[in-house]
Amino acid sequence: MEFSEETRKKFKQTLLRDPQKEAALLPTLYLAQKEFGHLSPEVIQYVAELMEIPPPRVYGVATFYTIFNKEPVGKYHIQVCNNISCSLRGAEQLVEHLKEKLKIKVGETTPDNKFSLSTVECLGFCDGSPAMQINDDYHSDLTQGKIDKILKKLK
Ligand code: FES
Repeated sequence: MEFSEETRKKFKQTLLRDPQKEAALLPTLYLAQKEFGHLSPEVIQYVAELMEIPPPRVYGVATFYTIFNKEPVGKYHIQVCNNISCSLRGAEQLVEHLKEKLKIKVGETTPDNKFSLSTVECLGFCDGSPAMQINDDYHSDLTQGKIDKILKKLK
């Protein structure tokens, strides 16, 4: 297991930008997730060795942040905010809608590996709640109709 040449270049840029290892850990884990899809124990070990940081420290950071996937996810990872603003504006009903539409529960992936569904803490879009993130894209002011349109474009 190794970073591709392109990711290695990005990693070196990260180290130039954040010469302190601890500061470079988050962007490096992000690069690792992009490269390998999720942060398996093997990926965490690889990052720990690469950065010369104890594996338990890397594991602790990887498991603290919900942006990091510890399990494989589908092509589209749908993360619905279930924090207070979004909850007050109907996030739970939207999650139920997504569960029904995708025929999966929260924490599951569709059998074709296309969609994974998660609930997460605040995405920072409280003024546009309810909000969700799909891979690197954010969607706000959601309704069931808006979700249906978004999903249709992803199929
Ligand atoms: S509470 Fe949902 S984006 Fe902040």
